[in-house]
Amino acid sequence: MKGLEPSVDSPVNANLPSAPTLRRPPNKLPRPNETCWCGSGKKYKKCHEELDVEFLKAEKVQLEAKRIRPGRLSAIRPVPSFIAKPDYALTGTPSRSNARLVRTDEEMVRMRRACRAAAQVLREAGAMVRPGLTTDQVDAFVHGRTVALGGYPSPLNYRGFPKSVCTSVNEVICHGIPDDRVLENGDIVNLDVTVYLDGMHGDTNATFLVGDVDEDSRQLVQVTGECLTLGIGAVRPGRPISDIGRAIETYAERFGYGVVRSYCGHGIGDVFHANLQIPHYFDARSTTKMEVGMTFTIEPMIALGTWEESTWDDDWTAVTKDLKRTAQFEHTILVTETGCEILTQEP
Ligand code: MF3
Ligand code: CO
Ligand code: CO
Repeated sequence: MKGLEPSVDSPVNANLPSAPTLRRPPNKLPRPNETCWCGSGKKYKKCHEELDVEFLKAEKVQLEAKRIRPGRLSAIRPVPSFIAKPDYALTGTPSRSNARLVRTDEEMVRMRRACRAAAQVLREAGAMVRPGLTTDQVDAFVHGRTVALGGYPSPLNYRGFPKSVCTSVNEVICHGIPDDRVLENGDIVNLDVTVYLDGMHGDTNATFLVGDVDEDSRQLVQVTGECLTLGIGAVRPGRPISDIGRAIETYAERFGYGVVRSYCGHGIGDVFHANLQIPHYFDARSTTKMEVGMTFTIEPMIALGTWEESTWDDDWTAVTKDLKRTAQFEHTILVTETGCEILTQEP
């Protein structure tokens, strides 16, 4: 049959309109009478509209089929009695959140130690990520390493969280609970490590590639890391907190990505989550001025599609509404005269 098909360039076809070719439509679609996104110059309804409807329907079915499902939890991991524990370790409820935001010199020394330990555990946990590993195996490792360094894994029993690290795969935005799910080739996984050491919390996370990951996801992970860097770059004493989210959102928008709004960075120190909130989008209400000595986290969650989220029945696992992937990176920082010190970065 092949020989009978006229070639595209043949004079017979020269005046016929070319058919739209199947391509991924952009996040924001034109209205039917607007020009098509493909550059043909034709009206959308006469060009890609029908194809797009089919494409998006097929993609939805595929995302639904591949979506992450809750697995089985292992038994609660005990912490030796000689490890100093935060107030919520026994009760599940932190006793206060209105802690001072500005650290004393002595507190800064302890913050550095806690943050350094968290950075080390995150690096080591990230290095073990590979297809076939379960997120519970990551939890066992983080738990053991944290305790070996003399720390308490801050997530454990924080508001009832049952494990020692958050493991958030693909469309899971944050607060994924480690379970018996096996990491698969092509997944992306965020590991969020927080260590309580010397009476202080150090909080850091990163997104890791599992085996061979598609180009769209790799770009998402890359850009999300850059969002954190840009957010950190906006830290300056005297400037409002809203500068941070503006820097992040402006950059993410260039790629058509969504910036998650329900979860923010936070003040951190002797309490895990202090009242100060750091939105990762521009919020004109974030007028609090950054001050030398403040410690807080910046932890943008960036989505390939919508920023809207829903939460699983476990009351923890946050996922994107459209089931498209998200990535996150987090550092704990200290505001200094000239900008900031990244406490959760190893030298
Ligand atoms: N580490 C997370 C953050 O960046 C908080 C996890 S709370 C937990 O704020 F309970 F899920 F561990
Ligand atoms: Co945090
Ligand atoms: Co964290």
